[in-house]
Amino acid sequence: MNPAAASPPGAKGPGKRVAVIPGDGIGVEVTREAVKVLQAAAPGRLELTEFDWGAERFLRDGTTLPAGAVEMLQRDFDAILFGAVGDPRVPSGRHAADILLGLRAQLDLYVNARPVELLDAALTPLRDRSPSDVNFIVLRENTEGLYCGVGGHFQRGTPHEVAVQEDVNTRRGVERIIRYAFEYARRRKLSRVCMADKSNALTYGHELWFRVFSEMRGEYPDIDSRHLYMDTLAMEMVRDPGQFQVIVTCNLFGDIASDLAAQLAGGLGLAPSGNIHPGRLSLFEPVHGSAPELAGENLANPVGSVLASAMMLDHLGWSAQAEALRHCVRAAIRAGKTTRDVGGNMGTREVGDWLAEAVTAHPVGS
Ligand code: NAD
Ligand code: IPM
Ligand code: MN
Repeated sequence: MNPAAASPPGAKGPGKRVAVIPGDGIGVEVTREAVKVLQAAAPGRLELTEFDWGAERFLRDGTTLPAGAVEMLQRDFDAILFGAVGDPRVPSGRHAADILLGLRAQLDLYVNARPVELLDAALTPLRDRSPSDVNFIVLRENTEGLYCGVGGHFQRGTPHEVAVQEDVNTRRGVERIIRYAFEYARRRKLSRVCMADKSNALTYGHELWFRVFSEMRGEYPDIDSRHLYMDTLAMEMVRDPGQFQVIVTCNLFGDIASDLAAQLAGGLGLAPSGNIHPGRLSLFEPVHGSAPELAGENLANPVGSVLASAMMLDHLGWSAQAEALRHCVRAAIRAGKTTRDVGGNMGTREVGDWLAEAVTAHPVGS
């Protein structure tokens, strides 16, 4: 990988240029393996540039997301591969918010796509469920809601302190993610879209979600559209996940629903995500965080990051290479070539090596 160096604009060529931001903790370890597998899938066709944004850098010189970073990424790269951020030495989470939430907001990555696919029946904690029962996607609004950072403290640190965090919902923001969900379903010939909110309690912000969804569903008569309150959705996802194909919800609920959903399919170690603005520079990462208690132990499962890389290849238009990655992940799970979190006894690096070899032995199109 090249060190972080400004590359001449317009030098994109036939290959693809990927900014790699490993971040903190296991983010660094899983990204290293994903890069290995990516290079095996598209030998010589990916130009990877690594950036050291994360806790170490923040503690060293106070940098979170450097000035001009967003413009540089938009100018010089085709995609971003992200690890995870979060470090116990930065209890405020300041760098994580600036880097990850900053990139989501400033790149206007309004779709957080979190597919949930049970790759082997043995991986689900649910009884008597097969892969066809757990196969849906959570589409999480990714730029507003309670993540806007609007709010403040009053009389902080006193017995009278007040903390306010505003839930910001704009018509444009709500419309575009709900429309994306309907269009996603149509494109993939899926028939069911479920929108989840708490409009019964959040009678302003989520009433807007309910109203926009009620208006828009009329434009998609071919799709069985359904509304659930978020608490009911959580229950239904566990009781009968097979009823869902596309779930769309707000930023915070999508965060929670996607961890729950990930566990239905074997856990956070396997779950990928794409932070997407259709047609623009987008960012791909595992759903999990930096898991400080696993960091440095060669225990983290790299599959979430490898599957996020497959989503990235799809976004770049390299669907055959993306499918090769997914094929090899399925083969690894079938063969028990996995880390401990999913019942295997291999390390992070060994799983990465196995996947890279399998991808090499299974060239695209074969
Ligand atoms: P986490 O996702 O890091 O870990 C939760 C649990 O899942 C842990 O028990 C961990 O052992 C397990 N786990 C996660 N990824 C795994 C993997 N690849 N292989 C095996 N097991 C795995 O969540 P947390 O512990 O709540 O948060 C730790 C830090 O990560 C916090 O600072 C948090 O803010 C941050 N975080 C960052 C992101 C991100 O960068 N996108 C996402 C979630 C959490
Ligand atoms: C995620 C994470 C982030 C979020 C944190 C680290 C701010 O949990 O990507 O799911 O809440 O979006
Ligand atoms: Mn999360």
